[in-house]
Amino acid sequence: CGIVGYTGADAAQGILIEGLTRLEYRGYDSAGVAIEQDGALQVVCRKGKVSGLVHTLSHFDFAGTCGIGHTRWATHGRPSEANAHPHTSCAGDIAVVHNGIIENFAELREELAARGHAFKSDTDTEVVAHLVEEAYADVGDLQAAVAHAAGRLIGAYGLAVVCAYEPGVIIVTRKDSPIVVGRGERGSYVASDIIAMIDATRDVVVLADGQVARLTPDAIAFFDEAGRPLDPPVTHVDWDLDVAEKGGYPDFMLKEIHEQPRVIRDTLAGRLSAGALEIDELDLSPEELDLIDRVYVIACGTSYHAGLIAKNLIEAWARIPCEVEVASEFRYRNPIITPTTLVVAVSQSGETADTLAAIRDARVKGAKVFGITNVVGSPVARESDGVIYTKANKEIAVASTKSFLGQVVSLTLLAMLLAQAKGKLKTSQVRLLFRELADTAEQVERILADDAAIQEAALACKDASSALFIGRGMGAAVSYEGALKLKEISYLHAEAYAAGEMKHGPIALVDEGFPVIAIATKSPVYDKVVSNLQEAKARGAMVVAVATEGDEDIRAHADHVIYIPKVRDAFSAITASVPLQLFARAIAVARGCDVDQPRNLAKSVTVE
Ligand code: G6P
Repeated sequence: CGIVGYTGADAAQGILIEGLTRLEYRGYDSAGVAIEQDGALQVVCRKGKVSGLVHTLSHFDFAGTCGIGHTRWATHGRPSEANAHPHTSCAGDIAVVHNGIIENFAELREELAARGHAFKSDTDTEVVAHLVEEAYADVGDLQAAVAHAAGRLIGAYGLAVVCAYEPGVIIVTRKDSPIVVGRGERGSYVASDIIAMIDATRDVVVLADGQVARLTPDAIAFFDEAGRPLDPPVTHVDWDLDVAEKGGYPDFMLKEIHEQPRVIRDTLAGRLSAGALEIDELDLSPEELDLIDRVYVIACGTSYHAGLIAKNLIEAWARIPCEVEVASEFRYRNPIITPTTLVVAVSQSGETADTLAAIRDARVKGAKVFGITNVVGSPVARESDGVIYTKANKEIAVASTKSFLGQVVSLTLLAMLLAQAKGKLKTSQVRLLFRELADTAEQVERILADDAAIQEAALACKDASSALFIGRGMGAAVSYEGALKLKEISYLHAEAYAAGEMKHGPIALVDEGFPVIAIATKSPVYDKVVSNLQEAKARGAMVVAVATEGDEDIRAHADHVIYIPKVRDAFSAITASVPLQLFARAIAVARGCDVDQPRNLAKSVTVE
């Protein structure tokens, strides 16, 4: 979900719409605004995308200069106009937008209903509006009323609240859900993500848990939980405004796919010093690294797939056992963690609820935690012992591409660092590997320069109802991500299997024309993958092979071949993933799907 708010000299409507449009990638099943106008709150909500809300608002064109807005990804209550934010009090004089989940909302709702509050939605958020209303009736001060209401909440929240009787004032607070505020030349801004206010200011305050900000047209004042004034640090955002624009590409996904060579270069910049690998931010001496005897990589979604790739490298180079686990499972198991266990938490957004919970759990159990994230100052960065930033810059398309590649490169560095610390890789080997890793930037550029074969294969598969991705070793990990990308954005059912497992079940799916996408790059298991391809082909499959340039033999076993440059197997996930991103996108476009904002998904999932 996304939150925006503005109070200042200009009409709020346009600023809120602009902010919501920028935040739409965080959720888009409904949207709404509350704008102060002539001593009352005008609340307009619509089911569906922000464009629907924009259309409705164009009939009103409110002149009010203070307001809040929200774009939603449903948790409690299905997507509908009634469940869209802002939510209001009984009298409609207090409006609230909220990100997160109020875990005790059922008790609060029952309690409030017993006192005569009537509810209009199924959401957890609505209780906040009623709690603030009650408190406001007692204390007559919005800030105090919000603080009081927040004190009753269990769960995660980023909140922005306005009140008809306090014109020009927005009160915000948070717990476990991001809120940033900033001053622009023409007013004060709040959002759940800097990108919503980047046009107005680059200097923002990232609220910490429990802090409260009071926005007025001319100033922002900060307070701690007890209401004492604070002077929190200001963060300067230095990324370019153009991350929020498509820059001539038809969609953000394609733009971000094309940014990947830059991401590889930036993630590697400054990492090799005098022939040795250096990741100072991790703040662990080589001796401490040498003590690590077990690694867990924990993550969700695409980030989990980056972990699968890392496992191969950590075990091959550093010779330490490495397990990869989805954070939502890890947090509810009792994994074997000792003080010499390293937990690597991978999260593009740095705010995924399950990953954060797993980090906290691992630290309580005594593990060292490294975060790999794309967002500076995010909760994952703050709560880890050390962090590597992926340098992807803001990623807007919901399906992750450039962040994934940044994660794979960062994890590759981490594997090399562990191997270096354990004396398993000599300096000369580290130098050679680093150079080859850096070369992948140029190799990815070559893949991006000619996508004709990818487009052709995509056209051949676009009408299928299901597809199978197979590979072995690195290729298996790449397959999982390829299948996820395809199903996320094209709604074509796709499954990935380690190629050797195909004969134990999935081969039953194969009949005439069934698409099988095989990662068949040159590797120690190349021949085995080719055998699996033949098994599929013999049963009528339409085989799309991702293969190494120069491999003419593969043509005998595949209907479509997508060639990629030759790289060492350890780096093949970087190059082989790129054509699968383009393949998924091409199918999604051909099927008329919204590639940047696929249905039911959200960019960051801050709920369990
Ligand atoms: C959501 C996104 C995915 C992402 C996953 C994990 O499901 O749609 O693209 O991979 O969350 O997000 P994270 O920010 O923790 O990497």
